[in-house]
Amino acid sequence: MAGDNTQQWVHLNGTLVPKSGAGVSIYDHGFLYGDGAFEGIRVYSGNIFRLKQHVDRLYASARSLGFSLGISKEEFTNRIAETVRINGHNNGYIRVSVSRGVGLGLDPKHMNSEATVVISTEELRLYSQEMYETGLNVITASTRVPPACCIDPQVKSLGKYINNIAAKEEANRVGAGEALMLNMSGNVAEATGDNLFLVRNGRITTPPTSEGALPGITRGAVIDICQTLGIPCSEAVTTLYDVYAADETFLTGTAAEVIPMVTCDNRTIGDGRPGPITNSIIAEFRKLTLVDGYHV
Ligand SMILES: Cc1ncc(COP(=O)(O)O)c(C=O)c1O
Repeated sequence: MAGDNTQQWVHLNGTLVPKSGAGVSIYDHGFLYGDGAFEGIRVYSGNIFRLKQHVDRLYASARSLGFSLGISKEEFTNRIAETVRINGHNNGYIRVSVSRGVGLGLDPKHMNSEATVVISTEELRLYSQEMYETGLNVITASTRVPPACCIDPQVKSLGKYINNIAAKEEANRVGAGEALMLNMSGNVAEATGDNLFLVRNGRITTPPTSEGALPGITRGAVIDICQTLGIPCSEAVTTLYDVYAADETFLTGTAAEVIPMVTCDNRTIGDGRPGPITNSIIAEFRKLTLVDGYHV
């Protein structure tokens, strides 16, 4: 029943189905080959944060992978909003997963369905409140971000994440909260599920997408917040030296939101505590999450 807390629904290929029975084919290309894309989106007090930007990025991912989602962005947006409404999830996390469709064999000529489209909602808390107050210990992973000529890291494709999972496992093995990932040139691209920001001498920088960073929606929001706050912010090729020598560092992502990072590879960053600029951005970000987006 709509809005009933005990029954949760999934939007599966245009139909709302009970979550408990929801599933896709064993020959779905997302399952067989990682041939698809996804979005993680947050909803704050009924405001789906920057929904338009997420839908635009999803469509760009599918276009880049060479398949059509078969419905308009408007219809997609309505399906997401409908799923949030029926699940009564005014605060939570929305997972949108799409794949090329169903077909055994990797050749896309042999697909026997349209794209698979799944929308679900969840509770999600990645880090404790304490970690937002004290900051994360982070390592650099040995697993690299692939170059765009292999698997373009700007595409939020399902398959690319095997690499990020390997890097996250490296962090887990040593009890770190996240792992930074370098590109093939040895420059810092991003973290396994977040973008990276550095503060030095009152200026903020973040690695460019051409260096392997995902064009993060939270990253975009933080760049806008810097403009509002009058803090200079620009993209810059970033080395580990830049990270270790920064006054403050923080990570941004839909799941993690904006979280300070206070050590990297056992080097203390700044004075080892979340800095004043990071804290002011976190405060502005929390305000923005309530107003910038699609109200269900
Ligand atoms: C590899 C990677 N980088 C960065 C991000 C942050 O992007 P966003 O702020 O759009 O969630 C994510 C999460 O989506 C990610 O998976």
